Amino acid sequence: MSTNRRQFIKATAAGAVAASLPLGASADGHESEQRPLEILVLGGTGFIGPHMVREALRRGHGVTLFNRGRTNNTLFPDLETIIGDRADNLTGLEGRKWDVVVDNSGYMHHDVRASARLLAPNVEHYIFISSISAYESMAAPMYEDSPLAALEDESITEFDWSLYGALKAVSERVVGEEMGEDRTTILRPTYIVGPGDHTDRFTYWPVRVRQGGRMLCPGSPEHPIQVIDVRDLANFTIDTVERRTTGAFNTTIPIGSYNMGQVLEDSQAVLATTVDPVWANDEFVMQQQLMGALPIYHPITGDYSHASSASAERALAAGMHNRPVRETIRDLMTWWDTLSEERHANARFRMTAEREAELIAEWESLT
Ligand SMILES: NC(=O)c1ccc[n+]([C@@H]2O[C@H](COP(=O)([O-])OP(=O)(O)OC[C@H]3O[C@@H](n4cnc5c(N)ncnc54)[C@H](OP(=O)(O)O)[C@@H]3O)[C@@H](O)[C@H]2O)c1
Repeated sequence: MSTNRRQFIKATAAGAVAASLPLGASADGHESEQRPLEILVLGGTGFIGPHMVREALRRGHGVTLFNRGRTNNTLFPDLETIIGDRADNLTGLEGRKWDVVVDNSGYMHHDVRASARLLAPNVEHYIFISSISAYESMAAPMYEDSPLAALEDESITEFDWSLYGALKAVSERVVGEEMGEDRTTILRPTYIVGPGDHTDRFTYWPVRVRQGGRMLCPGSPEHPIQVIDVRDLANFTIDTVERRTTGAFNTTIPIGSYNMGQVLEDSQAVLATTVDPVWANDEFVMQQQLMGALPIYHPITGDYSHASSASAERALAAGMHNRPVRETIRDLMTWWDTLSEERHANARFRMTAEREAELIAEWESLT
């Protein structure tokens, strides 16, 4: 049989739906010519899930959601949502088949094992969204084969944020154990940013830049920052679905490609505003315990000295594409401006003008 005839039969076997679908194109220009896949998303209605769902639908795939029905439950009325709690009720997933599962709501290793074990006979591929927090140390650059965090007591049943990274590391391992490494993909993002980011961390910076005036900034303009645009993560995830790429990948912008000075520069550019930055060194920031108040920044000494040194090489080689961070800031702020005044007032990170002025005065008294 000729290749063309075989291709034709393959295409028509995929059915009328497939025939009417436009070809999807991934971020690196790769045309998807395959049959539509059936994708199960565990937790598709939070921050990153909806971007993945929309990208999958845009490329012509079918998506089923699994969640408790508590978060943004009117987002995808046209999709099947299986209601359940991954902690204790997976019955809706029993006896169902999908091509691939994208697990973006796994925090407890027991829950992840339960879903992976139940789905292993019924899905071909399991994609687990982990984090660079899964690495044992951020005091050295993070490569995919760097040591992972250990969980001292794997019998724990309560989630604890201080164990987030170790729980992710164990969760990664259990997916591999249940599915087999050759059917498992682990994605380890740095800070995920962009429209819909409910953590308000990266958002602090452009929001603060828009206020103008003298602005307290940590470290120096050269201070490295690593993020990934949620849409770039979504694109790469769906590429991974389509290409059946397995293994572990850090998902982020390349090491050294962005810094705090550029956050300010890009924010000022897209917001058409100017600030007068006052750079306070790491020591001052630590001494004033501002680590939490000035989000996404980590001092370049000590335990987090390489928190912005996760290698993106492997994912880039596998087709990940990163848009300019300026575009992320532009779209993030467009989304932010759609939110209510109350939501703005209750942003998770904000510093009063008085507090900022006090800190600047304190810093300047030392220099
Ligand atoms: N944000 C970052 O910068 C960052 C960085 C690295 C890695 N990550 C990883 O990215 C992933 C996604 O984060 P996200 O903020 O988009 O989502 P999320 O808030 O972790 O998850 C929300 C989604 O999961 C569902 N869900 C939550 N608990 C559930 C449960 N017990 N049973 C069933 N469904 C449940 C929610 O729906 P219902 O409430 O309706 O159940 C919703 O659809 C996480 O795995 C996180 O570790 C995030």
